[in-house]
Amino acid sequence: MPLIHECVVTTLTPEGRPHIAPLGLIEEGDHWIAAPFRPSTTLFNLEHGRKFTASFTDDARVFAGLVTGTRSFPLTDIDGWPAPRLSCALAHAELEIDHVEADELRPRFFCRVRHMESHRPFLGMNRARSAVLEAAILATRLGRLSHEKIENELAYLTIAIEKTAGSAEREAWDMVMEKIRAHLASA
Ligand SMILES: Cc1cc2nc3c(=O)[nH]c(=O)nc-3n(C[C@H](O)[C@H](O)[C@H](O)COP(=O)(O)O)c2cc1C
Repeated sequence: MPLIHECVVTTLTPEGRPHIAPLGLIEEGDHWIAAPFRPSTTLFNLEHGRKFTASFTDDARVFAGLVTGTRSFPLTDIDGWPAPRLSCALAHAELEIDHVEADELRPRFFCRVRHMESHRPFLGMNRARSAVLEAAILATRLGRLSHEKIENELAYLTIAIEKTAGSAEREAWDMVMEKIRAHLASA
């Protein structure tokens, strides 16, 4: 299995407005592959423009916010590149689509990394941040998972939150949990 980089991509609408969404970029040989399911704004934008940006962040609140409806994260323009990056990014990559593998459900956009740049130090892995990331992914798939599966995953992920979260990670966890609990209560 290839490595997947969980990041936040900025694509551009045909009018040139930035759109941000969490996405896993698959590293496969010389290419990085974006594989968004249909329908999504990110997919639509990738079909209409070749250049986009990946932001790498260790702020779990960004992933939590994006899956719970907050999109107003500050962006920073990049010199000579049309798609801005997250201002809080530790690093970013500028990607250009090289070719596309068409698919009804999940086309694959094979990209070249044109440039990568670091902005802040990365201070190491953290289990609570990983747990929030897992919960955020879970929160985008609620309709496809049984309650039992969701409850079991949460029980495991909670251990990392209780043992290793700082205040930002707790805030992020609570945001995602509110969405998941609402789903469990309503369904
Ligand atoms: C960490 C993370 C990684 C994700 N990776 C993907 C992915 O690779 N493909 C996909 O279709 N959705 C992925 N999602 C879900 C998308 O973010 C979600 O489909 C979103 O609605 C797409 O946003 P858009 O319609 O605003 O473009 C991921 C979500 C998270 C939290």
